[in-house]
Amino acid sequence: MRQPTAIPKFSTGLNPLLASFKQGPLRRRTRVMEQLSATWDSSFVASDRFPEPLRMGEFGYRDDELPHSNRVIDDLAMATPVRLLDARGSAALAEVCRSLEPLALGSSFIISRRLRGADLLSPFLYNMLRDRSFLLRISRLAGVPLIPHPVRSAAAQINYYSGEPDKSDEIGKWHLDGMDYVLSMLLTDPAEFDGGEFAYFVGRRDAFDRGMIADADVRTAPLHAAGDAAFFRGSHIYHGVSPVTSGHRMVLTLSFFCPSFAAHDSNTFLHVASDDGVPKTVPGWLRLKWPTRNPFRDYALRSGSPVVTWQDLEEADARTVPARAA
Ligand SMILES: [Fe+2]
Repeated sequence: MRQPTAIPKFSTGLNPLLASFKQGPLRRRTRVMEQLSATWDSSFVASDRFPEPLRMGEFGYRDDELPHSNRVIDDLAMATPVRLLDARGSAALAEVCRSLEPLALGSSFIISRRLRGADLLSPFLYNMLRDRSFLLRISRLAGVPLIPHPVRSAAAQINYYSGEPDKSDEIGKWHLDGMDYVLSMLLTDPAEFDGGEFAYFVGRRDAFDRGMIADADVRTAPLHAAGDAAFFRGSHIYHGVSPVTSGHRMVLTLSFFCPSFAAHDSNTFLHVASDDGVPKTVPGWLRLKWPTRNPFRDYALRSGSPVVTWQDLEEADARTVPARAA
């Protein structure tokens, strides 16, 4: 048993509380306009088959610990590598995210350098994240209807990592997300950097917290090309990024929300506030927790998203040859 040494664990205890009062603005006030050579196009959405995912049972979780309805037990744990966009879409997305890098801010909490709320700065990202075809594809992968998370600062985050001789290597510490449905998409060719492996722990979160970490339970996501992604239950699966020792690595992290399972959302106010600060967390928290009459309609309005329902998901499944590998 060991604590993986290349990646430190993020701080817990009082540190998130202290961080929630220390966080500055989500982004610098400087306006950097997106290079408009890249515009979102629905035809960028890929149609490749998804690999068979790992289920939560393989991580030690029981079905009665998971959200379930009369339709499904929501038990997807990790699917990787998956592709949401075709090669043209991945290249255009990478161009957009590169243009936003001057707005990224440093942080010592979990990710060394990141841009929160990136979709609120980029028409490309905003339109992609709210494109019906894109949402149906991610919903088919998850097996539950998904929309962008109503805590808008967290819906799209770009993480930047550089390894330069005169700087400390940038990193993503071992951590859990507040978010349940997380897509982490590599946007740089792995030949452009050293280090920077996406590691995850195959086991329960309480086992990791107790230090019960066997080498065999730490795996690396097979992200071998720009556009490859991991879709996983970020709130339950410990994950981190090893230090980037040279070159440049860029990742887009998207967080989704299932209106059917709103009551199971794993976020805590403190976790969000430790990233965004208390004042900026309050509006998003109200969007998440304010009562709803029709969850599908109300959460879509709060996320600025099309409505995606179970019926939409079933119809999309029926229209397409099964996207999951047999
Ligand atoms: Fe994360």
